[in-house]
Amino acid sequence: MSNNYHRVRIEAGKKRRVQRMLLGKSARLRPFEWSDAEKYRTWVNDSEIINLVDRVRPVTAVEHRRWYERISEDSQIAIFAVDAMPDEKFVGCIWLYGIDPRHRHAELRILIGNREYWGSGVGTEAIRILIDFAFNKLNLHKVYAYVLASNQRALKTFRKVGFIREGVLKQERYVNGKFVDVVRFGCVRKV
Ligand SMILES: CC(C)(COP(=O)(O)OP(=O)(O)OC[C@H]1O[C@@H](n2cnc3c(N)ncnc32)[C@H](O)[C@@H]1OP(=O)(O)O)[C@@H](O)C(=O)NCCC(=O)NCCS
Repeated sequence: MSNNYHRVRIEAGKKRRVQRMLLGKSARLRPFEWSDAEKYRTWVNDSEIINLVDRVRPVTAVEHRRWYERISEDSQIAIFAVDAMPDEKFVGCIWLYGIDPRHRHAELRILIGNREYWGSGVGTEAIRILIDFAFNKLNLHKVYAYVLASNQRALKTFRKVGFIREGVLKQERYVNGKFVDVVRFGCVRKV
């Protein structure tokens, strides 16, 4: 087992409980707790958001509890609550999914669920903070993301933080009765 593998596994596995807050000016990342989860479920079930996060139907309380237990156990997922600063208001979630210690990459997913904070800059800063954590704490080499081609706000956000558009997955998802394209973005660590 290489050192890198070991390091990612240990840090990704323990971090949800022991990771301190990751602080920025307009956003703060902290461990995502069960007390945050019900609010998160209301966002996931929001009619506009549901398509953006690739859901087909509302998530029930039971499914949500199972989801929370699964992600809490999974060492290949690092999930954080996003608080808007300086208000310290819980506005969304961001996570690394499928942390792969061999290839040292992971998928970034983000949901700023409180619509009042869309366009406030909090999403951009949360992504910057998570990228820094992924590269400098988890020792990952690459972070990637999938964004609906119609999601202009997210496309702009990922470009702004330095993600490169790697390609388009043609008619990848079935959303509201039609097949839609998905853009794949990647961000490689610079050293
Ligand atoms: C996408 C998301 C993370 C962006 O976070 P945010 O805090 O809203 O975004 P920011 O304010 O940091 O930046 C958004 C940028 O998009 C621009 N923007 C906002 N609405 C836009 C629109 N409808 N069309 C084009 N650009 C838009 C803003 O002007 C801003 O760019 P600027 O700083 O150059 O002015 C957040 O809106 C979100 O979670 N949305 C719902 C879920 C989602 O789409 N997740 C991404 C799937 S991977």
